[in-house]
Amino acid sequence: MKVIVTENYDASCAVVAEMIRDLVKSKPACKLGLATGGTPVPIYKKLIEMNKAGEVDFSQVHTVNLDEYCGIPGTHDQSYRYFMDTNLFDHINIDKANTFVANGMGDFEANAAELEAKVREGGVADLQLLGIGNNGHIAFNEASDHLISVAHIETLTESTINANARFFEKKEDVPTKAITMGMGDILAAKCVVLVATGTAKVPAIKGLIMDNVITTQNPSTMLKMHENAIVVIDKELADAVGYKA
Ligand code: GLP
Repeated sequence: MKVIVTENYDASCAVVAEMIRDLVKSKPACKLGLATGGTPVPIYKKLIEMNKAGEVDFSQVHTVNLDEYCGIPGTHDQSYRYFMDTNLFDHINIDKANTFVANGMGDFEANAAELEAKVREGGVADLQLLGIGNNGHIAFNEASDHLISVAHIETLTESTINANARFFEKKEDVPTKAITMGMGDILAAKCVVLVATGTAKVPAIKGLIMDNVITTQNPSTMLKMHENAIVVIDKELADAVGYKA
């Protein structure tokens, strides 16, 4: 696992956007695993600017998203399909037919099986982008005494519901279940890039980069087993966890 420490969060987002741009330039028909949450938003903004400036062409790119809430349709403004459309896909020259976000409505088990198939369709992701939950969760793989390798339905923890309540009108509106890629799906990607910023992420990032322990109580620690995992944090977060490059 490699750790990159940048000057600030904006610089972290620039580094990651450049990684994605360079990958797409070297492999125009690449496959990207994408993430939601607040953290990747500026990365997507930078990719939109690069696309508009003619620096990167997404016309042959395929994408698969990590997860989706159960019980809200893709038209709902808090669904991850809506998030991806409005924060990225609607503004770049990607073919929407080549983008996949699990369906959060209907038969959840069948939708998880569909996600599982998409993870490997046409080969695994060349790059999987990740954020991290305050409790170390990756996608919606929650801290627990066990983790699941394949796509499945996850019951969200109180910590995750509280953290994501800021996006909804009231806490009761936050879905309690989600469809998520499993940890095996995520680690199958050729390269995994995790971005984190902010004091809320200190305990999770400490567990990820400050020792060699792998624990299901901090799902992000599974990244320690990946040959090509990159963690991008800013100086402020590095200092807060006591990391020295
Ligand atoms: C959600 C998503 C995760 C994301 C996490 C952190 O729970 N399922 O993929 O990493 O939120 O989000 P944020 O970047 O807003 O802190």
